[in-house]
Amino acid sequence: MIASRFLKALSAAMLAMIVPVLTIAPVAAAPTPQAAIATRQAGYKKMGAAMKALNDQLKSDAPAKAVMLDAARTIAATAPEQPKLFPAGSGASAGVKTDALPSIWTDRATFDSKMRQLLTESAKLVTVVNGGDVAAIRAQAKATGATCAGCHRQFRADN
Ligand code: HEC
Repeated sequence: MIASRFLKALSAAMLAMIVPVLTIAPVAAAPTPQAAIATRQAGYKKMGAAMKALNDQLKSDAPAKAVMLDAARTIAATAPEQPKLFPAGSGASAGVKTDALPSIWTDRATFDSKMRQLLTESAKLVTVVNGGDVAAIRAQAKATGATCAGCHRQFRADN
């Protein structure tokens, strides 16, 4: 009896603590189309710079593993953020400069599958760079770059 009354009081107390937490927990605000465009463009620029840094090393006589690893990790960490930065309305109708083609929203499944290819290849890139075999790194850098180009051909205006 006492125990159950205690439990009831306890659960009421816990509920009193949990409910306000639930109600004031901020709902992640969806970015405005304009903010999403700016963020995704910054993300792509970052990946573009990382890809260049990687390829510059691969062209040099003594590719620096630390630089290549940093570049590979930048791509692998940035890529997963990109798909959520294409909300409806963030195409040309957003009124800011964007090279995102309307087909992203009419053929979203293909677009998302190309994003997933980048995730797969860039994760593999990190592993291969860690391995340190320059020929293998070169091959995987090419495979990763092909996923970028493959999406741009189909879904980006400026090629
Ligand atoms: C699934 C599709 C897709 C993949 C994969 C992809 N991109 Fe893009 N990329 C886009 C789209 C769409 C834009 C145009 C974004 C905009 O203007 O709103 C873009 C824009 C860019 C830009 C121009 C950014 C700017 O506004 O200055 C660069 C640079 C770029 N991507 C590099 C890369 C690199 C490097 C990779 C691979 C590591 C890559 N992208 C992979 C779709 C993709």
